[in-house]
Amino acid sequence: MLDFNTIEQLDKIATPFYYYDMDLFYKTVDHVAELAAQRNLKVHYAVKANAEKRLLEYISSKGFGADCVSGNEVLHAHECGFRPEKIVYAGVGKSDKEIYNALMLGIEAFNCESLQEIFVINEMAHHYGVKASISVRINPDIDAHTHKYVTTGLYENKFGISQHEFDKLIEIIRKSEHIDFFGLHFHIGSQITRVSEVFALECSRVNDIVRYFEDKGLTVRNINLGGGLGVDYDDPDGNPIADFDTWFDTIAGNIVHREDQAVHVEPGRSMVAQCGTLISRVVFVKSGETKNFLIMDAGMNDLIRPALYGAYHKIENLSARMRTFFPTHQAYDIVGPVCESSDVWGAGRLLPLSVRGDLMAIRSAGAYGQVMASRYNMKDIAPAVFSDSLEEATAAVDYFA
Ligand SMILES: Cc1ncc(COP(=O)(O)O)c(C=O)c1O
Repeated sequence: MLDFNTIEQLDKIATPFYYYDMDLFYKTVDHVAELAAQRNLKVHYAVKANAEKRLLEYISSKGFGADCVSGNEVLHAHECGFRPEKIVYAGVGKSDKEIYNALMLGIEAFNCESLQEIFVINEMAHHYGVKASISVRINPDIDAHTHKYVTTGLYENKFGISQHEFDKLIEIIRKSEHIDFFGLHFHIGSQITRVSEVFALECSRVNDIVRYFEDKGLTVRNINLGGGLGVDYDDPDGNPIADFDTWFDTIAGNIVHREDQAVHVEPGRSMVAQCGTLISRVVFVKSGETKNFLIMDAGMNDLIRPALYGAYHKIENLSARMRTFFPTHQAYDIVGPVCESSDVWGAGRLLPLSVRGDLMAIRSAGAYGQVMASRYNMKDIAPAVFSDSLEEATAAVDYFA
């Protein structure tokens, strides 16, 4: 919950922008580091969730690795302090240039997603006279019980290598002289809220698959279970830190591994979602035929999750909180300025009576927000503003002064 003093400071900054609560961010990262150390889990932060330099620099300084899904993420993670031997690189469509750059950097492992990719990496490693460390991403055919667009571990999804190719895969790994087999990688989906049920199932399937590979003579040195821990979009103040305890306990209690086998996880959303808020302003209030519209200056170009997944974000009127009189409430369709009918933040949301210029908070926007921003409609990209350096943020335009 933003305090009055912070709201007053935010009100001076040109909107829209991403506001990061650094206290909450540090607390979350420190909590994860402590829990992971207690349970001997290795954590690779999934850079795709939020690639903001300041956040990455802190995460890398705490000894986490980085999980990347593009060549540029690999290079960026390295620039933000992640050592190459702590960077893994997944993705179904790595280009030759991306593979080359990661090979030259000497990353911990390519998480390979097809037989052809292993073949190409082996050839390129041969050509450039290096050895490529690879893990194989397996599609375990597990339903993560989440939105279908963030489900990644079913056979209908494009990710990973599935069971019918296991024997061929093992043969290819054995024959490829320029690769070094590191382990197996899994990632079944994102925003998983049935934590103990889904991750226990994942572990049980992973145990079977690891055993299968080892029985065939391959040593699995690394078991990477991916990310996916969900956050509470309904109540970000009630649950500012995701339930890492249950997630890690479920893994620790269900995964079978030897002392010489490391167990990795790759949280993205859960580490950064709740510390981020997209701050916007009401540009116009419009009475439609059947509805009242609050038109904001932030749109789907700034945060695409509602338009892309129908995702829910809690929305608050910060200016109304500062008003001294008791506000009447009203139902609004809160919308953005982009010329698309899907540019809707929330329909029929009950809010205090809102007026032009009111400062609005779109909560839980730290993950898959800023990273997915676009310049659609030639809009400007919303900048990042950090709670510990508000005075450095751009001065407000004076339209509402
Ligand atoms: C390979 C991989 N690992 C980890 C993650 C992070 O997932 P989440 O943000 O749900 O923790 C993703 C995101 O989808 C991913 O693709």
